[in-house]
Amino acid sequence: MNVLVIGSGGREHALSWKLAASPLVTRLYCAPGNGGIAQVAECVALKPLDFDAIVAFCREKNIGFVMVGPEDPLVAGLVDRLDREGIKSFGPSAAAAQLEGSKGFTKDLCAEFGIPTAAYGRFSDAASAKAFVASNGAPIVVKADGLAAGKGVTVAETVAEADAAIDEIFAGRFGAAGAEVVVEEFLDGEEASFFALCDGKTVLPLATAQDHKRVFDGDKGPNTGGMGAYSPAPVLTPDLVARVMREIIEPTAAAMRARGTPFKGVFFAGLMITKKGPQLIEYNTRFGDPETQVLMTRLRSDLLPALIACHDGALDRIALDWKDEVALTVVMAAKGYPGDYEKDTEIKGLDRAGAVPDVQVFHAGTRADGGRILANGGRVLNVTATAATVAGAQAAAYEAVNLIDWPEGFCRRDIGWRAIERERQTA
Ligand code: AMP
Ligand code: GLY
Repeated sequence: MNVLVIGSGGREHALSWKLAASPLVTRLYCAPGNGGIAQVAECVALKPLDFDAIVAFCREKNIGFVMVGPEDPLVAGLVDRLDREGIKSFGPSAAAAQLEGSKGFTKDLCAEFGIPTAAYGRFSDAASAKAFVASNGAPIVVKADGLAAGKGVTVAETVAEADAAIDEIFAGRFGAAGAEVVVEEFLDGEEASFFALCDGKTVLPLATAQDHKRVFDGDKGPNTGGMGAYSPAPVLTPDLVARVMREIIEPTAAAMRARGTPFKGVFFAGLMITKKGPQLIEYNTRFGDPETQVLMTRLRSDLLPALIACHDGALDRIALDWKDEVALTVVMAAKGYPGDYEKDTEIKGLDRAGAVPDVQVFHAGTRADGGRILANGGRVLNVTATAATVAGAQAAAYEAVNLIDWPEGFCRRDIGWRAIERERQTA
């Protein structure tokens, strides 16, 4: 079967790398791809939101399955369009992608179906949002309703900070994504992510992960798309995973079915593990970036049959086999990220780094220029290692990082610290 992956980040490199190893794949394409993806798939210059061009390409190349990576085309209805054209794909319909596309939608669903999440209010004007803040006090959390590339959330320590965030959203900082504001209770605990596939009915747990959102060591500095991640997340014990499935994921799948918009694709649940138990922070309705890089290096089974089963409603026939090892990924970013940064700087030493045993270097934002690899984004490389322990995976990943010659790049030096501390305590 010919397969098309949509997207251009480290997530799509990891997915393409995994799909390229599938015996079911004849030809693998990625649109638009990047300098690293080009080593495992044929990159084609299509825009993820140009649905007409994607459909035309699928017809021309006889594409049997489309794997959609990012959220924007999902929320804009790419899967609905491909369904109408009779082309199989992975991901939710636009209606089901509202779980990521609208925080208010998800909060209301949780309230209606008893899914544990922070208490909240939805507001379409600043005065009533501020009144809610005033009556609840700080700390409190202010969120733009729609897609804001991970930047629409303020965890406010003071009422003044919350009010300023409300004003900023209604002043249009996030455009249409900020037409509404969700204000919610601050949840105290440890964060972790949980991934599960769904075919509309059956839910299949995948794995757990934790990421580092802040740009600097010690989890300091501004938020980013993620500076590193590891899987599994030690905080999510098997008992807690069972609770997450029973109290959060399965009720969500049932709720979406009950509403006539069954969810197909991957639930990426952001969780806070509180004293009361796991609470949902938010859903993403696509694979995480860089979480996918650690998930795919741990997955032993072929990924493609599971993705197709989500489309076909046949997930009850799928079982996935995972390595017991830990995977850890270090994000290398261009200096200045998440602010302004330089592009087109040359990266050397990638072959040496990739030759370190049990290491995969995924490209997040690169382009090939003849034989050279140039940086082409903020987050640029995901140096990913597997080992028996988090400490071992961290050591291997940094060994590879140290072989990469890219003076204009940087990375955090402490990815996995919390899990490594736990390992030391239990050793
Ligand atoms: P989100 O985009 O909703 O995942 O929010 C981004 C980050 O803000 C999360 O990863 C949490 O670290 C933090 N956050 C969001 N909601 C809450 C909450 N209710 N309580 C505490 N922290 C939160
Ligand atoms: N790593 C967070 C995300 O993919 O949204």
